[in-house]
Amino acid sequence: MKVTVIGTGYVGLVTAVGLAKIGHTVIGYDVDPRKAALLQRGEVPIYEPGLAELMQECRQEGRLLFTDEAELAYREPELVFIAVGTPPKADGSADLTYIEQVCRDIGRYMDHDAVVVTKSTVPVGTNDHIQGLLQAYARGGTAFTVVSNPEFLREGTGVHDFFNGDRIVIGTSCDRAAGLLEELYAPLGLPLFHTDIRSAEMIKYASNAFLAAKISFINEISNICEKVDADIESVAFGMGLDRRIGPQFLKAGIGYGGSCFPKDTKALVQIAGHVQHDFQLLKAVIEVNNKQQASLVKKAKEVLELKGKRAALLGLAFKPNTDDMREAPSLAIAEQLLEAGADVIAYDPEAAENARRVLPEQVQYASSLQEALQGADVAFIVTEWAEIVELPLSQYAELMREPLVFDGRNCYSLEEAGRHDLYYCSIGRRTVAGHTMSI
Ligand code: UDX
Repeated sequence: MKVTVIGTGYVGLVTAVGLAKIGHTVIGYDVDPRKAALLQRGEVPIYEPGLAELMQECRQEGRLLFTDEAELAYREPELVFIAVGTPPKADGSADLTYIEQVCRDIGRYMDHDAVVVTKSTVPVGTNDHIQGLLQAYARGGTAFTVVSNPEFLREGTGVHDFFNGDRIVIGTSCDRAAGLLEELYAPLGLPLFHTDIRSAEMIKYASNAFLAAKISFINEISNICEKVDADIESVAFGMGLDRRIGPQFLKAGIGYGGSCFPKDTKALVQIAGHVQHDFQLLKAVIEVNNKQQASLVKKAKEVLELKGKRAALLGLAFKPNTDDMREAPSLAIAEQLLEAGADVIAYDPEAAENARRVLPEQVQYASSLQEALQGADVAFIVTEWAEIVELPLSQYAELMREPLVFDGRNCYSLEEAGRHDLYYCSIGRRTVAGHTMSI
């Protein structure tokens, strides 16, 4: 099938490459000429394991090209995927400017019927609005059918998720459009769920809100565990054995970040508000997450004066295997540390370049974990990169001036921490203090 994907951000790019891999002829369109040219040269502007190789393979087989030329992008496709950004506005609602621009372009450039598939996460009712816009902009009797096909890819495992998703949601009341999408996705052999357009839109928000709620719930339990001397790792494991609960998204830490959960939870509160529903539970999920991001530095302040101290910040991306800094807990943590008067030395294997753009300029960068830890008075583990999880704890004791370790991702077992002479404070577990530690 001939497919055009509008927007080559994270979702658009993985979708374009994935669809090309399963045999379709795909054009990735981006308004940014530099980005389109970069992709056309075979370079991947984001860090996503496996994507560059797959992209290369599809390009060599001639099934994938990138362009910033609208005429070319809209000339032939049977299916147009909208994967442009819907960034949050100041009030938390989604900004639909880019989507509306795409509708105008479709009307302007397309002279044949097509199915328009919305991948971007949009508030309930938006696809009906898109349908209306397309009808208004369509020229000379062309007809467009809109389908909501929400995306559930996780960053860092996007390629794997594309081929192994739990379900593909197809929201439309048009049988012909639904059939076309069934055909498109058939090579993946994944479960398809057909529903109406508004329910499909809601599935995306409800799924992300539920997962965010699971994280805030376990984080709250971890805060109580610390006070009643229970161990969050055992508690989460024991809970997860119940198949009704399941073991996933029960990892306590310093809160969720990224491009989806913070944005979509706030947007859903807004969506509910518009129909006079006060979504109290979700508001609490968001508030708990904000508090959780601040909890690590708060714990450190209880045991040491941060002013003038050298603080190593280990991991900056919002989670491992991505260079994405959007809503990363490291943003809040770096700011708190600087505010408290500490010198911050940060390290991340992939996100440092992006971090330089968003972290305060006083933050310094190390080129290795060891360099960040050398002479540090306190270390904060923020992202559980394999490299960080695998770093022997002995190195903290050897390299740091004072081995005070605040682990926001529970990277080490307490038994392991007990074997070293350091102060080790993690999430939802008892604190371990070595025999020579003064605090
Ligand atoms: C998420 C959804 O999983 C995906 O389906 C959707 O399409 C986009 O949003 P993503 O943001 O890439 O994907 O990452 P995910 O792996 O879900 O993690 C989100 C955040 O939650 C990260 O900050 C992670 O550290 C945190 N998290 C996740 C926890 O703190 N504990 C957990 O148990 C799981």
